[in-house]
Amino acid sequence: MRMGLPVLSVNWTKDSMTLLEAARKARENAHAPYSGFKVGAALRTAGGKVFAGCNVENVAYPEGTCAEAGAIAAMCAAGERAIAEVLVIAGSESPVPPCGGCRQKLAEFAGPEVPVTLANMNGDEIRTTVGALLPGRFGNDHLGRG
Ligand code: THU
Repeated sequence: MRMGLPVLSVNWTKDSMTLLEAARKARENAHAPYSGFKVGAALRTAGGKVFAGCNVENVAYPEGTCAEAGAIAAMCAAGERAIAEVLVIAGSESPVPPCGGCRQKLAEFAGPEVPVTLANMNGDEIRTTVGALLPGRFGNDHLGRG
């Protein structure tokens, strides 16, 4: 157990490697002049397509967006809606966890069982799930539309 997250066994599949490459590549294009903290995210859809995003900061700080939001936006723009796997990478000492807002954003398109790999640039990784990252999520059922 690290950072209070349940750690699933790490077993890189070919699909995970694809996500790692896509997220690393997106991270190189991050616009992070204010924090200096570049983040890349990649997701695979239920249909097998991969979409990636990076954080895009703004001089008006709250206007910046996270890498996960970029990957989700790219997925939606392509007409896809179902996330099957996620990977997030940053140059942090321990594998980077998605921020609270991004956990809710991921939960919009991913069930609680969807695997999320947290990675850093040293090759450390933690595998968890959307449900473990966001227990008690706010969902459609709370709107009476479950
Ligand atoms: N960041 C992400 O892109 N994803 C996360 O889940 C954590 C934080 C970005 C936002 C900001 O540009 C930088 O990391 C520092 O917070």
